[in-house]
Order: sequence, then C-alpha cells, then structure tokens
Amino acid sequence: MLKEITLSTSALRCLERLRTIDDYTYAHSVAVGSLMLALARHMGMEAGAVRDCGLAGLLHDIGKATVPSDILNKPARLSPAEFEAVKLHPVAGHALLRAAGGLPAIVLDVCLHHHERYDGKGYPSGLRGEAISLEARMCAVCDVYDAITSPRPYKAAWSRPEALRRMADWTREGHFDPAVFAAFEQILLASPK
Ligand SMILES: [Fe+2]
Repeated sequence: MLKEITLSTSALRCLERLRTIDDYTYAHSVAVGSLMLALARHMGMEAGAVRDCGLAGLLHDIGKATVPSDILNKPARLSPAEFEAVKLHPVAGHALLRAAGGLPAIVLDVCLHHHERYDGKGYPSGLRGEAISLEARMCAVCDVYDAITSPRPYKAAWSRPEALRRMADWTREGHFDPAVFAAFEQILLASPK
C-alpha cells in the first residue's frame, strides 16, 4: 500500500507520528488506507485521486496522537466524558496536518470530516449529504468497517457478513452514503474470504 501512495517528506513525518500512538491505531490506519485505495479504484477515480484517498485513509486518525493514551487504550467501553475527549481527534488531526504543510487539501478534509454522517448527525460539523466530500464519505465507510471487524479488548471482531449486514442497516438509518456503501459492498463480496 505504501508503494502506491506518494509519501512526501511531510507525509512521512506524519506517518512517524502515527506510529507513536499505539499499535491498534497504526494497524487501523494502514487498513483504512488500503481500503480507501481499493474503493477509489473501484469507483473509477483517476490515479492522482486514488493516491490521495490512500494517503487520506492512512492519516485520517492522526489526531489520536493528542488523545491521552489511558483513554485511547482503555480496555473497556469509554465513559461519556472520555468519549467527548476522543471526539476532539478530527479537529486536532486537521491542525496537525495543516502544521505539517504540503499535504493535499483533500487529506486534511478527510481527517476533519471522517466522523460526519450522511444524515447530518455526525461530528465535528454536522455536515449532511453531499456537503461532506466524497472522500470523507468513503473514509467513513472504510473506517467503521475496519473498526468493527477488528478484535478489541472489550469486544470480539464481527465477521465480514455480519459487519456488512449491520452496516447495511446503518446505511438505511442514514449513517453512510448509500452509493458509497454499495460500491464498498461490491468490492468485499467480489473478493475471496
Ligand atoms: Fe476517527
């Protein structure tokens, strides 16, 4: 995956920062970057846009570097106050990437808006529908899929069919862009295992 995306000096520095967070966040970031590459390619985006999607997926959670590690690594569900602290990571990440400089604008946009929901109930801005960039709508799908199919100290990983079934329900409830989720589902249903 790293071979396919353009790693500028600035992106490499961000990647180093990402590695200091924790193993789960690093592995999750690599997985989301890979899923973003596959989804962008499947949706027919041009090569430069595909690379930007990979980089955006890789760096989307970099703001977690600013979340206290006892909260980030808590082996249980978060309290409401702890969850509020975690919810600051898109804005913090956007500031980190802006300070790094030299990154494509869409990478910063995805970092800031990957927790927006298609129905407007997400954060930090409560953007709705197409007001959320296509790339941020794609990252929302890839992010949630990798999170729920990964084992965590407080919950077992869901299987691929279970994850897709639950995400189809959430798409009907308004969480994801239905067209983006349909494209994502096509990739996974077509790939082995
Ligand atoms: Fe996130």
